[in-house]
Amino acid sequence: MTPDTSVMLNDGRTIPRLGFGVWRLEDADAEPLVGAAIDVGYRHIDTAQGYGNEAGVGRAIRESSAPREELFITSKLRNGDQGFDSARRSFDGTMDRLGIDVLDLFLIHWPTPARGLYAETWKAFVALQTEGRVRSIGVSNFLPEHIERIVGETGVTPAVNQLELHPAYQQRDVREFHAERDIVIESYSPLGGDGAALLRDPVIVSIAEKHGRTPAQVVLRWHLRQGFVPLPKSATPARIAENFAVWDFRLDDDDMARMVGLDRADGKRGPLPERMNNP
Ligand code: A2P
Repeated sequence: MTPDTSVMLNDGRTIPRLGFGVWRLEDADAEPLVGAAIDVGYRHIDTAQGYGNEAGVGRAIRESSAPREELFITSKLRNGDQGFDSARRSFDGTMDRLGIDVLDLFLIHWPTPARGLYAETWKAFVALQTEGRVRSIGVSNFLPEHIERIVGETGVTPAVNQLELHPAYQQRDVREFHAERDIVIESYSPLGGDGAALLRDPVIVSIAEKHGRTPAQVVLRWHLRQGFVPLPKSATPARIAENFAVWDFRLDDDDMARMVGLDRADGKRGPLPERMNNP
């Protein structure tokens, strides 16, 4: 993989800069769609226990043309399995469903702060990494205060924080925090989520016309230019291919400046991490 298509993590590992997200794909559909993604060049697949499709992802990995060592597989711990012992047991379930020996990246899916278990859970993640069962460990939907707490208790900084992030919800206020600690930001709902109204925005449409590209490709380049790792999801093979065909053009400073103005106070689509405490 060339340097342009991968990013170095703070633990010395590399991660492909663009991944295929499988949220909301049924287990049976995940298998052919992940297979289609691998066929067009994706090497990074992002699933979660809560998506209910780890087994389908596992079948796709086993049947794929790509050797296991070329693939980067992420899963995430369900909230109800947080805690030291339960996180470790739950990890075993993920590995059984995926049918692989070592996971590339395991994330705490949400901090669920009112439940008070994320620091203990992080200790289990550190142990799993020390034992060599997972190569990299990280978090998702963590606010800076949650990250400070787990680093304070273990001395281990997460390699990534996966956040909702797209041009309508740019999260400019937390970027410096992550850059200072060398934590890679992964973007979920990178195209603005279901419905993808963002892709009809006149600014994005006009930048797409200027480059002879699609709006989705422009939005993905916006993520890549800022060092984020976007995880676009699609259930449509043609779009899966379109979303990976982004390596041969770049946005210029003028494009980036125009897109700053798309950030909106009400741009977040999903739950707020400080309030999401469901098991
Ligand atoms: P579909 O699965 O029917 O292709 P996000 O990754 O931000 O969550 O966005 C996913 C949404 O955007 C889904 O509704 C998906 O629909 C749609 N989508 C994904 N890729 C594209 C694309 N290249 N063009 C238009 N819509 C897309």
